[in-house]
Amino acid sequence: MEKDILFEISDIKKSYKITKQNTLNVLKGINLKVYKGEIAAIVGKSGAGKSTLLHILGTLDRPDSGQFIFEGNDVFSFSDKQLAEFRAKEIGFIFQFHHLLPEFSAIENVQIASMISGNKDKKNAHRILKEVGLEERENHKPSELSGGEAQRVAIARALINSPRIILADEPTGNLDTENAESVIDLIFELRKKFNQTYLIVTHNEEFAQRCDRIIKISDGKITDS
Ligand SMILES: Nc1ncnc2c1ncn2[C@@H]1O[C@H](COP(=O)(O)OP(=O)(O)OP(=O)(O)O)[C@@H](O)[C@H]1O
Ligand SMILES: [Mg+2]
Repeated sequence: MEKDILFEISDIKKSYKITKQNTLNVLKGINLKVYKGEIAAIVGKSGAGKSTLLHILGTLDRPDSGQFIFEGNDVFSFSDKQLAEFRAKEIGFIFQFHHLLPEFSAIENVQIASMISGNKDKKNAHRILKEVGLEERENHKPSELSGGEAQRVAIARALINSPRIILADEPTGNLDTENAESVIDLIFELRKKFNQTYLIVTHNEEFAQRCDRIIKISDGKITDS
């Protein structure tokens, strides 16, 4: 069966100027096609450039050169304002640490994310918290949630605007085995229901093996995908 491409990046390069004389080349020409509805793991040693790549795909950072074509749109030709709109509409983020706002309840944390796209609908936040199995915890603040529960709220927050791609940077990195497993199961369940596309940086070998595909990054290049 022919797979539909969601986006394609070509020859993405990124370097950081360390001193006047020294530049660190982090991404050295990344080419990748990502297909609709897939869950792909990104693996590689510490310092290989995984988070840097995720930041660029998340349009949180621009590369030095290279193209990002998302459903026919040349993303890096967008103005900063267009880029912010694109990001809010199309991209969901899940990080290693949940980064929930401590003063707000679970449901408020999810609602705040939905405000960015002009939708404050509490019903929607309630529905998505139910999807992640937390309807009974929606009035808890982050300090009143377990690590696994907090990460589920973060997943609900990532999904609230129905993004087409979810970028996760070590989403189970801070969880014990049991909670990690339940977060992994949840991601697969959600994909089944909503057919979203996930790119997940992980050091969890078992998680990577369960994904549809493993993308290996070594020294700023993709060595296998
Ligand atoms: N803002 C920055 N300025 C300078 N160097 C940076 C910057 N961000 C990242 N780097 C360097 O770029 C390289 C790649 O970093 P990156 O965070 O992408 O690695 P990673 O593959 O995610 O590693 P890990 O598995 O440890 O999270 C590292 O050597 C890092 O020190
Ligand atoms: Mg990283």
